[in-house]
Amino acid sequence: MRIFALVCALGMMASSVSFAFDCKGHKADLARAKTSFTTNCVSCHGEKGDGNGPAGQYMNPKPRSFATDDFKSGGKKPNADLVFTTISKGLAGTAMTAFEGQIKDEKERCDLAHYVLSFRKK
Ligand code: HEC
Repeated sequence: MRIFALVCALGMMASSVSFAFDCKGHKADLARAKTSFTTNCVSCHGEKGDGNGPAGQYMNPKPRSFATDDFKSGGKKPNADLVFTTISKGLAGTAMTAFEGQIKDEKERCDLAHYVLSFRKK
């Protein structure tokens, strides 16, 4: 029994430090993501994800359009895992900061990743 508990504890430790979170496979709650996006992201990325938020429009580099531009991470085919990493870790040299400290729930960051991709015009 004690060994079982130890294995469980080690397993939990390993999962909390690894990048194993499967954002692609996560079923996103887009309604929740919209609320979070409005609070945390709209000032720069704009309501439509076009980069024309009240602060974003004056930035250099300006946030690209999630709808029509290629992504830095993933080019023409960004996916939820790549976007999740960008949201968590930020982009050096830009105003895009790491959100893993501010938005601690990885499911919420993952919801946001799916929300970002929902802007894309295919
Ligand atoms: C202070 C302004 C600001 C805020 C707030 C902000 N971003 Fe960004 N974001 C940027 C800038 C600037 C870039 C980089 C410009 C570029 O190359 O697109 C960027 C880049 C990104 C990218 C990278 C796209 C790519 O090209 O790979 C994603 C995804 C993203 N932001 C999502 C978010 C999400 C989700 C939030 C809210 C949790 C958020 N951002 C909040 C300014 C901001």
